[in-house]
Amino acid sequence: MTVFSEIVLAGDCRELMPARGPFNMILADPPYGDTSLAWDRRVGGWLPLARAALKPTGSLWVFGSLRCFMATADRFADAGFQIAQEVIWEKQNGTGFHADRFKRVHELAVQFYPAETPWREIYNDVQTTPDATARTVRRKQRPPHTWRIDAGHYVSQDGGARLMRSVIYVRNCHGRSIHPTEKPSALLEILIRTSCPEGGLVGDWFAGSGSAGEACRLSGRRYIGCEIDPDMAERANARITSVLPFNDGDLS
Ligand SMILES: C[S@@+](CC[C@H](N)C(=O)[O-])C[C@H]1O[C@@H](n2cnc3c(N)ncnc32)[C@H](O)[C@@H]1O
Repeated sequence: MTVFSEIVLAGDCRELMPARGPFNMILADPPYGDTSLAWDRRVGGWLPLARAALKPTGSLWVFGSLRCFMATADRFADAGFQIAQEVIWEKQNGTGFHADRFKRVHELAVQFYPAETPWREIYNDVQTTPDATARTVRRKQRPPHTWRIDAGHYVSQDGGARLMRSVIYVRNCHGRSIHPTEKPSALLEILIRTSCPEGGLVGDWFAGSGSAGEACRLSGRRYIGCEIDPDMAERANARITSVLPFNDGDLS
């Protein structure tokens, strides 16, 4: 039995996505609004709608630049979102709009959760990498600077699981992308595994190429995306359906 269906709706996420929830996780990769390019216009009004369409234990991951997050910080607070953490996606090459600044080879992805839900109740499956070194760490007291985070104790073994680092290197899709700002599905899969339980529903409000739909298919999460450009939505649907469907039987 196939455990999920997926689709990229063609239209404005503010109109089409609220009724498709509630979502376990919302992924949003909106235009950052950092350039004068015609397609790079910040979209207003979607955050309160996303908040209402999210399960109380769900979270929202938003891609953006620091410039964009600083310019829109009050919108997240006004919509009832609390910031949880950020990861940095490091890529092999990037944009160099200005010769007088660093070559930009990273993007931010920031996680937010409903302000009225305690963080410990938010679905959170911390990802690991298999490269630990053997050691035992015991913290009798909670470190004073971490406020509500409890004391820690863990034992790790050589080659065992280590908490994934917050700077994540994944090659970008240059040369094989179908969208100019496509995010690699391998990166999105990490965020999806972290914040959506298996079989849960991911809402991808600015779907572009549908790379998150591919990641959901590969990781056993249900997916609904939305893309305002109908041609891109069609290509995204074709892309997602070309990925082999994950099947319950495959697990045995
Ligand atoms: C940064 S791109 C997303 C790229 C995508 N994450 C990927 O990996 O391919 C932003 C997308 O949002 C779409 N968009 C802009 N406004 C929108 C809206 N109101 N509703 C839905 N999609 C929108 C744009 O057409 C664009 O394809």
